[in-house]
Amino acid sequence: MCGIIGIVGTQSVQERLIDSLKRLEYRGYDSAGIAGVVGGQLERRRAQGKIRNLEEVLSEHPLQATVGIGHTRWATHGAPSERNAHPHKAGRVTLVHNGIIENYAELREALRAHGRSFESDTDTEVIAQLLDSELDTGKAPLEAFKATLDKLTGAYALAVLVQGEDELMMGARRGSPLVVGYGQGEMFIGSDALAVGPFTNRISYLDEGDYVAINHGSARIFDEAGQPVERKIQTVAASAALVEKGNYRHFMEKEIHDQPEGCQRTIAAYVDTLTAHTAIPGEVDWARLERVQIVACGTSYIAGLMGKYLIEQLADLPVDVEIASEFRYRQPALRKDALAIAMSQSGETADTLAALRFCQAKGMMTAAVVNAVESTMAREVDVVWPIHCGPEIGVASTKAFTAQVSVLTAVAVAAARARGRIDEAEEQRLVRVLLEAPRLIAESIKLEEAVRSIALDVSRARDVLYLGRGPMYPLALEGALKLKEISYIHAEGYAAGELKHGPIALVDEQTPIVILAPFDSYFEKSASNMQEVMARGGQVIFITDPEGERHAPAGARVVVTAPKCDPLIAPLVLSAPVQLLAYHVAVCKGADVDQPRNLAKSVTVE
Ligand code: F6R
Repeated sequence: MCGIIGIVGTQSVQERLIDSLKRLEYRGYDSAGIAGVVGGQLERRRAQGKIRNLEEVLSEHPLQATVGIGHTRWATHGAPSERNAHPHKAGRVTLVHNGIIENYAELREALRAHGRSFESDTDTEVIAQLLDSELDTGKAPLEAFKATLDKLTGAYALAVLVQGEDELMMGARRGSPLVVGYGQGEMFIGSDALAVGPFTNRISYLDEGDYVAINHGSARIFDEAGQPVERKIQTVAASAALVEKGNYRHFMEKEIHDQPEGCQRTIAAYVDTLTAHTAIPGEVDWARLERVQIVACGTSYIAGLMGKYLIEQLADLPVDVEIASEFRYRQPALRKDALAIAMSQSGETADTLAALRFCQAKGMMTAAVVNAVESTMAREVDVVWPIHCGPEIGVASTKAFTAQVSVLTAVAVAAARARGRIDEAEEQRLVRVLLEAPRLIAESIKLEEAVRSIALDVSRARDVLYLGRGPMYPLALEGALKLKEISYIHAEGYAAGELKHGPIALVDEQTPIVILAPFDSYFEKSASNMQEVMARGGQVIFITDPEGERHAPAGARVVVTAPKCDPLIAPLVLSAPVQLLAYHVAVCKGADVDQPRNLAKSVTVE
């Protein structure tokens, strides 16, 4: 959600705080602010909106500090205004926060009753006021911090400065991730490895409930009970270079183009390329498994749905896929002999994490398909299935989606083999097919010009429908989600067979209908749906393959022909034109592609 950075430096930190916040802007961009120690006093600068607004403030009023904290916000409590922007201040305390304090209302009332007044509408200010009131009782900063944390219910990652303690920065995590970065005579606190990436690649991940005190040269970490603990210092690969846009205009465009490589690295980790067998990390007894329960949100949920089609069809293993926020609050009937799989790019999505923990509590074995291998989910599950597509910065997920689908495709083949549904020769054939996916995705990306040429037309539409059958149905959902989140055009994805049961009422001459139909066992049915749409004046954008193009009914407004491929990998190969359409429509509309309004990359609040 929000992004946090803290630097205890030896030189001016303003530019580095801003550099880091720009890297964190994908987590939220409603407002931003920094604070630092200037001549023994804590000063802050804040601005509503993007970080460039904060830069304007700083050009007028620079912050000459060598110790400082910064924050980019995705608003939860309180409107996105300067008044509600972090850092928040109370007496001697200035701090930044990611998460939600659930008991803030009662804490605020109690603090008000003791004569404290509040200047913002946020839950965060309560933490600053509480800590300041603990300091007022004469406690040392770390002791006061611990006493404050003990009173908080909810989720937080914090970076805290205390007036008069120029060498000290405190941090804490519960529910929201926080890392400590170790530099040369300088120390850092950040929301993730990317936050501190430009300054150091030596980091420690705090555990749930940990809090930390850093100064120029060291970190003292304590667990929830206040006991000193060691957290391993590791060297991470997320170098600053990995998160540059290169020659691309947007991260999303770059990440669409990164997909052949991302999928190749991912697939290589799940198959033995020499013997063409699957090689899934972890011990899952597929033969004895009765059921798979996938939990996820957004695009990761759609990747999970794709997995259901693949696993059920190939391995004859029942798969339930559920939106995590629904799953966690109803009373799902679970059995121990099922495998729970959390799908999550970030590995931190609050609802998915809660759903995963619910499954664990029911005694189920758990796996997580994540991009962030040090994330909370990765650390809590029995089996981690990483995707290897590199950091994804664009808020709209693209390369993580195809990498997630790549993992589930390999898992489906492995499960099918282990359950005796396919023989070794078929396993090897399917693995070889999967290994072709990166090359064919690269071919498919070459459709960019064809897709760009229809984007202007689509950008004028009020509504867009996406239709697909079989594994193309989840892709239809994904196409609609991508389009609406970055271009703000209303879009819906439907199972093509559902058309007659309602959505056909939306079809008119102004509505583009994207039909996803490679030449597979569903093709004839999809072609009939296309006829039905065209008979009602619908403008069909037909995304297919060469054979599908030959057999397509005449009359489509546009036919986009992806390379021929085995049905196993059609969802991967057809993803590119679907993503590119959303991207170019958003560009035509002049939308902020990488940072669409109201969204954030990592949703660590429910
Ligand atoms: C859409 C998108 C979101 C995420 C969702 C889950 O393009 O990116 O829908 O897929 O917020 O996030 P993760 O995968 O991090 O759990």
